[in-house]
Amino acid sequence: MEGREKRLSQLEEYLANLTPKRVVEELDKYVIGQEEAKRAVAIALRNRWRRQRLPEDLRNEVVPKNIMMIGPTGSGKTEIARRLAQLIRAPFVKVEATKYTEVGYVGRDVESMVRDLVEEAYRMVKEEMTQQVRERARRFAEERLVDYLLGGGEGGINLPFPFPFGGQPKAERREIPAYKREELLAKLRRGELDNEIVEIEITAKGSPAGIVMTPPGMEELQNQLGEILKNLIPGPKRRRKVKVREALEILTQEEAEKLIDPEEIASEAIYRAENFGIIFIDEIDKIAIKHQGVGGGVSREGVQRDLLPLVEGTTVSTKYGPVKTDHILFIAAGAFHLAKPSDLIPELQGRFPIRVELKPLTKREFVRILTEPKNALTRQYKELLKTEGVYLEFTEDGIEKIAEYAEILNEKTENIGARRLHTVMEKLLEDILFEAPEMKGQTIIIDGKFVEAKLSDLVEDTEAAKYIL
Ligand SMILES: Nc1ncnc2c1ncn2[C@@H]1O[C@H](COP(=O)(O)OP(=O)(O)O)[C@@H](O)[C@H]1O
Ligand SMILES: [Mg+2]
Repeated sequence: MEGREKRLSQLEEYLANLTPKRVVEELDKYVIGQEEAKRAVAIALRNRWRRQRLPEDLRNEVVPKNIMMIGPTGSGKTEIARRLAQLIRAPFVKVEATKYTEVGYVGRDVESMVRDLVEEAYRMVKEEMTQQVRERARRFAEERLVDYLLGGGEGGINLPFPFPFGGQPKAERREIPAYKREELLAKLRRGELDNEIVEIEITAKGSPAGIVMTPPGMEELQNQLGEILKNLIPGPKRRRKVKVREALEILTQEEAEKLIDPEEIASEAIYRAENFGIIFIDEIDKIAIKHQGVGGGVSREGVQRDLLPLVEGTTVSTKYGPVKTDHILFIAAGAFHLAKPSDLIPELQGRFPIRVELKPLTKREFVRILTEPKNALTRQYKELLKTEGVYLEFTEDGIEKIAEYAEILNEKTENIGARRLHTVMEKLLEDILFEAPEMKGQTIIIDGKFVEAKLSDLVEDTEAAKYIL
């Protein structure tokens, strides 16, 4: 349990430093504008941390204030969620509302999003635990590897130097003087044997693939069956010849697995999912269509009804144990072009009390999006072409022109927000991307004239633009 406390206190400390201001600063590195949405998620995160610090009776009273992000396509909703996920070190899943079907129908039921969350939490905890036992695991692995190198278990190595004990059967290994083992161990640690080939025995993981069928709506049962079968069928031992360096890695992994207790991972994973988990439900507006409409409406409302208990707080059974959803933070997002948030069933609306609007992006933001984020498109293309020895330089008026065209196209055809920049840039640079291998050493200036020459015809021809840009 000491390990668990250490891990959780490290997480605490990290989250303590993640003030709302810092969260917004981090998001600013990738997402331009949309301050309101950034602030809302930052506050929601902080509130969860604050709740953790309350006395237990009070803690259970504080329910998370779920957020609904409303904004047109390509305004940064998903991007905010993605960046948030990287930042918070808490279990996080992003799901599409449209992927779920009402319980009883063929397809994924909404509870599976909680199972996915726990799965993610399990993965995180396991990774942290593995990190903590890594040193110890490595020492065990080294010992095992020395055995193999000395010919234990019929293994053996072709040493590049005459080694008196190579290839000896296991029974005689005991007579190997300790100092010889030490010598070999020291060589191993200095990396001198890294590239030698050694034969080791590894336990392949049992796989129930192909044994279990998928009865509709019985995903959980299927998972549990799979788990049981995996444990019942021990993986076969396999011999493999690998480089010493790789062998050490494989054996360290194996030893680490032996040092961590799956039960312990499971219980901590559940704790983290329950108390820190975030589920991001994208495209929520797509299940909000009023049910008197045409086809499929009823089952959409069904999905909303299924979603409700999750958001209100229920217990979902997972293969790691029951998970309470009371304090999981839900962030829903949608464009709400056709439906309004008020087209959601009222109970569900009430469970997303924080509404934030993301603004449609215009030329001004496009200029910034093209240049400021760490992963800005202009930077990406520059780096891509640099690998061919072709150098791109974007001038200010070049960027302005790209942004302007993107805006015009959004107005004239369909408003797809910042996504438009991707298609415009790709079209703009198409020829260079094609010819780059023959252009080694050249520098290409992308200025206003260049952009105009490449794109003005297309931008003016609305019909063509609809298909190409
Ligand atoms: N505010 C923004 N700042 C920076 N990039 C953005 C912004 N909005 C959208 N993008 C870019 O546009 C693309 C689509 O954005 P996304 O967040 O997926 O849109 P949506 O709001 O439809 O979920 C992404 O590549 C993203 O990087
Ligand atoms: Mg999206």
